[in-house]
Amino acid sequence: MNKIYFLFFFIFLSILSCGNDDTPEECGITGDLSDIPYNPQNYTITKPDGFPEMFIPADNPMTVEGIELGRHLFFDPILSADSTMSCVSCHFPSLSFTDGVATSTGIDGISGTRSSMSLLNIGYVEKGLFWDGRSNTLEEQALVPIEDPIELHDTWENVESKLKDHPSYPEMFREAFGIEDRSEITKELAAKAMAQFERTLISSNSKYDKVIFQGQAAFTDSEDRGMRMYTDAQGGLPDAECAHCHALHLGTSDDFFNNGLDSVGSLTEFMDLGLGGVTQDTFDNGKFRAPTLRNIALTAPYMHDGRFETLEEVIDFYNESPNHENSSNVDVNIRPLELTDQQKQDLVNFLHTLTDTVFTKNPAFQSPF
Ligand code: HEC
Ligand code: HEC
Repeated sequence: MNKIYFLFFFIFLSILSCGNDDTPEECGITGDLSDIPYNPQNYTITKPDGFPEMFIPADNPMTVEGIELGRHLFFDPILSADSTMSCVSCHFPSLSFTDGVATSTGIDGISGTRSSMSLLNIGYVEKGLFWDGRSNTLEEQALVPIEDPIELHDTWENVESKLKDHPSYPEMFREAFGIEDRSEITKELAAKAMAQFERTLISSNSKYDKVIFQGQAAFTDSEDRGMRMYTDAQGGLPDAECAHCHALHLGTSDDFFNNGLDSVGSLTEFMDLGLGGVTQDTFDNGKFRAPTLRNIALTAPYMHDGRFETLEEVIDFYNESPNHENSSNVDVNIRPLELTDQQKQDLVNFLHTLTDTVFTKNPAFQSPF
């Protein structure tokens, strides 16, 4: 008798279990999704102290279901041609969503020329995404890596059909966006969901925040001197000019500058034109976005091409600013700083106070798989 129960149990299990290889029909799923309830819950961003309001596009309101779908897509190798890579392959949560190497390598083993960027506080970037600002919105940006030959190298047509045939994504698209049928899954909806997830990636729990806003910690003398040099506040210390371009509290002024990394004979000779390649204005050549310095201690190597291994090297570079008179568009705030070894160390120590491991360990930002 028991044996028969077992048999039924196994038949029942095999009907329930629905793997990635099964077709929708094998899983008993039809195209129609209208029986699945559509009750999206609004998600409100809590504005951290000192932060501006985040701009949320009217056609992509944040919902709990949209964010959850976006998180799945972000971590799912279904987005790559050979199912080996996903967004997280180059944006690890533990490294503040960078990948720890100078330039990133895609599924075909081809390395790009640029370093992966931290996605921390990415929803606050308004003047253009990427090092060169070429993408206007997170919705537009999320479409790019899928087809980029040096990233996920798939086609959206193929990804859309993989999502439509999947045992659980159609239901998630229904819950997030109210589609009636699995055939309505589009790349635009996938991008919207990923953008919603990315807007939740907010970091505001560093020592800096605890000192400045929460009164729960105090800077060491060295960190305090570092902050004063960083922000121009005097007190007998030299001005390191950092806050012009990496303004607090976000750690960025969200703008593009030539910070004098390269020595060039003329403005047309930069190896990577940066912003100029997008605007086609020669005076923008060699300008890149000044990224946020929040969690900067976790995102080595540094700069758009990952040329510096450590923060000490970065500070040595700014201290010397060897190319400050080299090209006409190097920003005026780039100049030799003449800092002592102790002052350089103070700046590095201050940068470490911007580290937020509550952010990197946040369970909501980890893989759902
Ligand atoms: C092969 C590695 C790789 C993969 C895979 C990858 N990225 Fe990136 N990501 C990068 C690199 C490199 C940059 C900087 C590129 C540039 O500026 O030209 C970047 C930049 C970004 C930016 C802009 C950040 C900023 O501060 O402006 C966002 C947003 C982003 N990626 C999201 C994603 C999403 C979403 C996915 C998955 C759909 C993804 N990335 C997949 C390497 C990768
Ligand atoms: C004139 C504007 C400007 C000033 C002043 C400036 N920076 Fe930058 N910073 C930038 C730009 C632009 C980049 C990106 C450059 C690139 O990769 O081509 C950058 C990159 C960085 C990076 C690497 C970021 C990353 O994600 O790889 C660090 C660290 C940094 N700056 C720290 C500082 C510190 C510390 C100071 C003060 C000593 C400072 N910066 C002063 C504009 C500036």
